[in-house]
Amino acid sequence: MRDPGLLGYGNPAALQKETRESGFFIKNIDNIFYNITLSFMESIHKIYYQNSNNLSNIESNSVDLIVTSPPYPMIEMWDNIFSIQNSSIKDALNNHHEQQAFEKMHQELDKTWNELFRVLKDGAFACINIGDATRTINKKFQLFSNHSRILTYCLKSGFTSLPLILWRKQTNAPNKFMGSGMLPANAYVTLEHEYILILRKGSNRIFKNDDEKKLRKESSFFWEERNNWFSDVWHFKGTKQRLNNKNTRKRSGAFPFELAYRLINMFSIKGDIILDPFLGTGTTTLASITSGRNSIGIEINDIALVAIPEAK
Ligand SMILES: C[S@@+](CC[C@H](N)C(=O)[O-])C[C@H]1O[C@@H](n2cnc3c(N)ncnc32)[C@H](O)[C@@H]1O
Repeated sequence: MRDPGLLGYGNPAALQKETRESGFFIKNIDNIFYNITLSFMESIHKIYYQNSNNLSNIESNSVDLIVTSPPYPMIEMWDNIFSIQNSSIKDALNNHHEQQAFEKMHQELDKTWNELFRVLKDGAFACINIGDATRTINKKFQLFSNHSRILTYCLKSGFTSLPLILWRKQTNAPNKFMGSGMLPANAYVTLEHEYILILRKGSNRIFKNDDEKKLRKESSFFWEERNNWFSDVWHFKGTKQRLNNKNTRKRSGAFPFELAYRLINMFSIKGDIILDPFLGTGTTTLASITSGRNSIGIEINDIALVAIPEAK
């Protein structure tokens, strides 16, 4: 059994105790697929180790909200995970066919976007955190606009686009400026923001019965939260990027708890099912637990999840 330290993050001791008593189960279904179910204050949290390009284990029209951040195409730390899924990506990178590599990486992600559209309920939201990439290939420095590629594809798949959020994560690192130093004209603007794309399947969500209407009321946010959260620029730093355990000493690409917590509270109500198809260290699961929502997480790499207690 894995360390239930997952629950230690940001939860009062009493709730941790209650959760430990209610159980934290890990069931080895076969060699490559694990299913974790955690019952916590009437919410259920499932984690599947699998590729999110096929979510046939999730029913169509069953999910209330998606909060996620995929591996970023053309950011070097994700080259390997894309190349494992399609070996021609590695060839394209090795042969300096950067546009081909960029497109093939996105074609892998497109399969997940299709699945997300299928499993979402009508009127439900998908929030996708994504950053653009800059990279020098064959001595040519250039921008790879991940956010526009994903947005274009999702619109083609049937999603409706809504006003998006710029997550400004300013850095004071002395080496942040790239290019020709103080000399024009080959100096480059520093990328200090990421995007949170906000998409919806269909139009306004309908709250059908008295129970749903009551839960919606119980999920309302404060006036200050409304003012901060619904602004189109969010300012907070990126989260700790390295996992501590020496066996898993690698970057996690985790987003801050606050980011997932806000999105969940803005676009879902208590008791809803939240899906993260690129779960990583489990931030979306933690924010769902804290917010009284149920969750499903999908992650291809069990090392990422083993690290949940240490990453938080
Ligand atoms: C940017 S990280 C997500 C980090 C996460 N938001 C967190 O807070 O820890 C992307 C994650 O997606 C996983 N991943 C990449 N390709 C995948 C796929 N096809 N199916 C499922 N998970 C995948 C990676 O292993 C990585 O953990």
